Amino acid sequence: MDTKRSGGREAALAALPALLLPWYDKNKRDLPWRQDTDPYRVWVSEIMLQQTRVEAAKEHYVRFLRALPTVEDLAACPEDKLLKLWEGLGYYSRARNLQKAAKIVAAEGFPSTAEGWRKLSGIGDYTAGAIASIAFGQPTPAVDGNVIRVLSRLLGDDRPPEALKSSLFAELAPAYPQARCGDFTQSLMELGATVCTPASPLCLTCPLFELCRTRSDALPLPRRKQERKRSELTVLLFVRGGEAALCRRQSGVLRGMYGFFCIEQAMDAAGVQAFLRGAGMRSFALGERRAHRHVFTHLEWEMTAYVVLSEEDAAALQNSSAAADDAAAANQTAAAASAAGEAAAAKQSAPAHTDFAALQYFPVERIEREISLPSAFRWCLPLLRRAAGAARN
Ligand code: ADE
Repeated sequence: MDTKRSGGREAALAALPALLLPWYDKNKRDLPWRQDTDPYRVWVSEIMLQQTRVEAAKEHYVRFLRALPTVEDLAACPEDKLLKLWEGLGYYSRARNLQKAAKIVAAEGFPSTAEGWRKLSGIGDYTAGAIASIAFGQPTPAVDGNVIRVLSRLLGDDRPPEALKSSLFAELAPAYPQARCGDFTQSLMELGATVCTPASPLCLTCPLFELCRTRSDALPLPRRKQERKRSELTVLLFVRGGEAALCRRQSGVLRGMYGFFCIEQAMDAAGVQAFLRGAGMRSFALGERRAHRHVFTHLEWEMTAYVVLSEEDAAALQNSSAAADDAAAANQTAAAASAAGEAAAAKQSAPAHTDFAALQYFPVERIEREISLPSAFRWCLPLLRRAAGAARN
């Protein structure tokens, strides 16, 4: 019998620091947030890493801290500048929560315990445990999907991750070493990211091989990805001279962020023309058209953008259901739904489109340089640049 593998869970977890810390010292990636344990810097990195891959976060982290080197700088930063610094990371509510919490920390100081961090906006059990261990040397585990995978394989525990999470929090805390708590936390994350990966773990190079109850012979299958909801969107890029129209999104995905005018329905050029005439636009020309798919975690947008060249002010157009109906009638997609029932259904799901009155024109150069535009819309910028350049010449 393999004695090392036959011990209990407690013994297996207690053995981790001695195996993982030397491995971590030799194998850890050189990441910018591993250069010191300053609480502000650790905090910023952990928030960025909540929903962003390490590679994508690296560059943003350096740029963010160069622009906002202290928690006071973050607390005082204008929102537009903050969102511009966050551009490309997505999930902008993280930036807003970070600033909300920074205002409290700038006034009251940094918490030093996981419970203290947990009270701040945007910080859950995982992030609180990570910050308290890395920045304050506390024995507070940070258990996310990666760490659950490592430990469920190590312990041969195939309970669903949700069930395992809270028991692992409680079981891992007593296994923390006297010193180097933060390195221990990061060594578990590092093992999950580089060795004990979801689909093809490198078991033969794993420092926990001797101890592991699963190894590669009986790995739980990676969980099936959740199906994404798909929506079709028509994006209208209103261009007037060298300017283009943006609006702050009022609701739903990317709420509060700038975007372009969107209609939640696929439209061909005839549909767009009918829609604009129905909204009261008299003189316009459709320019370049481009299709693009944008994938969020749980959602996919099939987008088609049309440049609309017009000297008229799109912000003065009328939102009217007649415009949507005209468009539906002209639209090939809707026209194909000729049976009465289908037509009624098409009308019922008529587009919840963005408010014309919310549109604001900005010089295209300014949109590119100063305004934080989510990547779901950034692919439209070359169309705007060409249209605005042509309109000026
Ligand atoms: N993911 C979350 N926190 C991390 C960290 N400190 N290092 C690497 N990956 C992480």
